[in-house]
Amino acid sequence: MVWRLRQSPEVEKIWCAPGNGGIEEYAECVPVDAGDVGALVSLAERLRPDLTIVGPEAPLVAGIRNKFECRGMRLVGPSQRDARLEGSKIYAKQFMDRYDIPTPTLYGDFESPIEAIRALDAVDWPVVVKADGLCAGKGVLVAETRAEAETFIRRLMQKHELGAGGSRVLLEHALKGDELSFIVLTDGRSFLPMAPTRDHKRVFDGDRGPNTGGMGAYTMDGMLTPKYESMIVKDIVCPTIAGLSEEGIPYTGFLYFGLMLTASGPMVLEYNCRLGDPETQPIMMRMNFDLAVAFDAVASRTLDRIKPAWKPGASVCVVMASGGYPGTFETGKKITGLGEAERLPDVAVFHAGTKREGDSVVTNGGRVLGVTASAESLSRAVYKAYEAVGKIHFDGAHCRTDIGVKGDLQKRMVAEAPRV
Ligand code: GLY
Repeated sequence: MVWRLRQSPEVEKIWCAPGNGGIEEYAECVPVDAGDVGALVSLAERLRPDLTIVGPEAPLVAGIRNKFECRGMRLVGPSQRDARLEGSKIYAKQFMDRYDIPTPTLYGDFESPIEAIRALDAVDWPVVVKADGLCAGKGVLVAETRAEAETFIRRLMQKHELGAGGSRVLLEHALKGDELSFIVLTDGRSFLPMAPTRDHKRVFDGDRGPNTGGMGAYTMDGMLTPKYESMIVKDIVCPTIAGLSEEGIPYTGFLYFGLMLTASGPMVLEYNCRLGDPETQPIMMRMNFDLAVAFDAVASRTLDRIKPAWKPGASVCVVMASGGYPGTFETGKKITGLGEAERLPDVAVFHAGTKREGDSVVTNGGRVLGVTASAESLSRAVYKAYEAVGKIHFDGAHCRTDIGVKGDLQKRMVAEAPRV
């Protein structure tokens, strides 16, 4: 977002808290933790920006919108109550139930591991086991067997491996289909859909290994038929936004619909109250309108005046991660080849877990870089992104080698699948 905002003639100055080794090129980074709402309020009171944009979920779930607004500071992001759509999967299920929004059948939600394990007697397999709270993308397992489901429930509820987010769990029917991230920017009345994207959540090629926050994503023209897209809008997006405005103050910011495209229509697997990572990277590369103007319109509730435009073709982001992610990994590895990769045409290297140390950039997290390229076709964008990945090195670097490669096949499946 910072990269895209920096290109707007409307933007004079950007501060980013806390930022990273890449964002430093476009904004003044301020060492304040993105989860520390009190410190963020003090920072904004000191700097008095015209507008604050919230990226991650933690400050939203902690109520940053309410704290800014009661001090008269403009902020794009949902209220604490609405951020519960992401902060509590049980709350999200109840919300969808109230507004008849299609979602997989819930077998039950549980506060006790014994009861959750006992409930496995009555489910169809595979079954989805989901942590209720925030778990950085690692709180969901599609379990093929009882043993797998039981182990995951114990890890969440008895060993607390993913923290407080795993203290309650849901068991849900597993659906067949293609996943899609459908994200809209909204001012609570109208909304502007982003280019639809597809994430790759498993750590290894062929969708194997544990779930991660996302190992890569792509977007391309024709990912959805107009008929299927209007079904998503009519059956899912409109009732969600209407339900939110009926129940609280207007939702502002990004609303992420994690969908399963099934033969009988789209279903909501999860909501997020933000953009997706790594979906954001390919979206920003194809965005052909002024994001700063759009954010300003959200804050003024005049988003209906903004016309979105997207660069034709496709874009893809390949995540380079630290070896061992999403488990344990080392940091502080020197990254080389960034300049060479960034000089390739239509390539941008977005930083995630990096920091600067003197003249060097070193690794500082699980997902390190989002190497992103755009082109006239998906296969060409994939080629360019991997060409850029090939220029970048750090000890233990891991990336999937199949990001986007199933895209053309999936495009045909979406176009040909029977539709209601
Ligand atoms: N890539 C999925 C997410 O951001 O939650």
